[in-house]
Amino acid sequence: MHAVVKTAPGPGAVFEQWPTPKPGLRDILVRIEATSICGTDMHIYDWHESIRDKVKPPMVMGHEFAGKIIEVGKEVSDLREGDIVSGETHIFCGKCFQCRTGNAHICERMLLRGVDTDGCFAEYHVLNEQHAWLNDRKIPIEVASAQEPLGNAVHAASAAEISGNTVAVFGCGPIGACLIGLCKSFGATKIFGVDIVDYRLKLAKDMGGDVLINGSQQDVVKEIMRETDGRGVDVFFEMSGAQPSFEEGFKVLRPGGTAILFGLPSKKIELDVANWIVFKDAHVRGVFGRRLFGTWYKTAEVLKAGQVDLSKLITHRFDLEEFSKAFAFGKDHHVSEQETCLVRKFENAGYCIYPFIFLGEDKEMQTRRICGIYYSSGPKNVKSGILHHLKVSVAVKMAPEHGSTVIRTGVVWKLPCSHT
Ligand SMILES: NC(=O)c1ccc[n+]([C@@H]2O[C@H](COP(=O)([O-])OP(=O)(O)OC[C@H]3O[C@@H](n4cnc5c(N)ncnc54)[C@H](O)[C@@H]3O)[C@@H](O)[C@H]2O)c1
Ligand SMILES: [Zn+2]
Ligand SMILES: [Zn+2]
Repeated sequence: MHAVVKTAPGPGAVFEQWPTPKPGLRDILVRIEATSICGTDMHIYDWHESIRDKVKPPMVMGHEFAGKIIEVGKEVSDLREGDIVSGETHIFCGKCFQCRTGNAHICERMLLRGVDTDGCFAEYHVLNEQHAWLNDRKIPIEVASAQEPLGNAVHAASAAEISGNTVAVFGCGPIGACLIGLCKSFGATKIFGVDIVDYRLKLAKDMGGDVLINGSQQDVVKEIMRETDGRGVDVFFEMSGAQPSFEEGFKVLRPGGTAILFGLPSKKIELDVANWIVFKDAHVRGVFGRRLFGTWYKTAEVLKAGQVDLSKLITHRFDLEEFSKAFAFGKDHHVSEQETCLVRKFENAGYCIYPFIFLGEDKEMQTRRICGIYYSSGPKNVKSGILHHLKVSVAVKMAPEHGSTVIRTGVVWKLPCSHT
């Protein structure tokens, strides 16, 4: 079969022949019909430092998919050839303490599909039946592939009381955007969407956000406090992993409110525990992955009921062998005025990709302060083509002795010192 293979340590991947996997006794063999790129895939593709120690090339990339079962192992009991399935990314063992006490999503021996094992950016993929999810045939194949981030959002939304409450979602990437859609349908009274990229805010609005705030241009705390008559929000969802978002989010959380922490900071961050949490008598909860398989059932119901329109996140399609174009496109366009994400689908083998993620390699660099300084100085020597990206997403590292280094999703431009 053909597959997108990370052949060796380092950036990039290769589209090449790879042995078609054979299903074991309890495995199913799936012909991939749709698959999606997520932030983890981008990191693996770019060989980001956060992931490079975990990945052992050569391996097939990818973990989000939907496809048709074409072969089942002898001991597979509940799935049949022809069923349309997706797979849980978190490959739980089913035997450890966590798994046996209903917490398989935080399994002690967790493996990740497409990170610790071969993935699904291929014509075929094999998985154990206990990690598969049987899709309703009415759900479009691309949407079925994209259930994972929606599932994350469902898990996060389930951790707080939404109905009749005001909520602030900090970080309107795909997961934050899905969450906004859920909060809308779960009956939030007012939904604030905060991001530093206008395009993401537009998406947040499309998904049901009531008040959209660009943190790189507006005073987030002031705006939200004004809109809530000085009280603050009932629920703060941290969906960006960026330090400023933690700070602003906790500041606008009303005393006695609930903070749901989902974003993953790329390094340790500072929390004012006394003022943000203790004095506020706040409820703080971390949320990881999806509950297995309770979240999948809920997610399927949400899709069936049309409560969240995932197709709004799917705008472009690429063929499998165009994967490098798709990755580059995702990096270049995730903040553009036109695209949200990519979808790709093969006519025969079937394949789709929609990277709706990826803002920046270094989250600590994504601070509005740094971007602000950069704007005000005006990057005169920067080519206009790049300027567009700088305006919306670039992170600028101040390094006067070497000139400023402008970093955006793995691409680095060296600029003369005068830009600082
Ligand atoms: N807890 C989990 O199980 C889990 C699973 C997957 C992803 N994640 C993390 O959840 C977060 C959201 O995932 P995603 O795929 O939507 O990511 P994403 O990177 O596409 O979205 C993050 C969004 O946050 C915005 N942002 C950056 N700085 C901000 C700031 N200061 N204030 C407000 N917004 C800011 C970005 O512009 C972007 O739109 C990421 O941090 C990701 O690493 C967690
Ligand atoms: Zn994913
Ligand atoms: Zn386990």
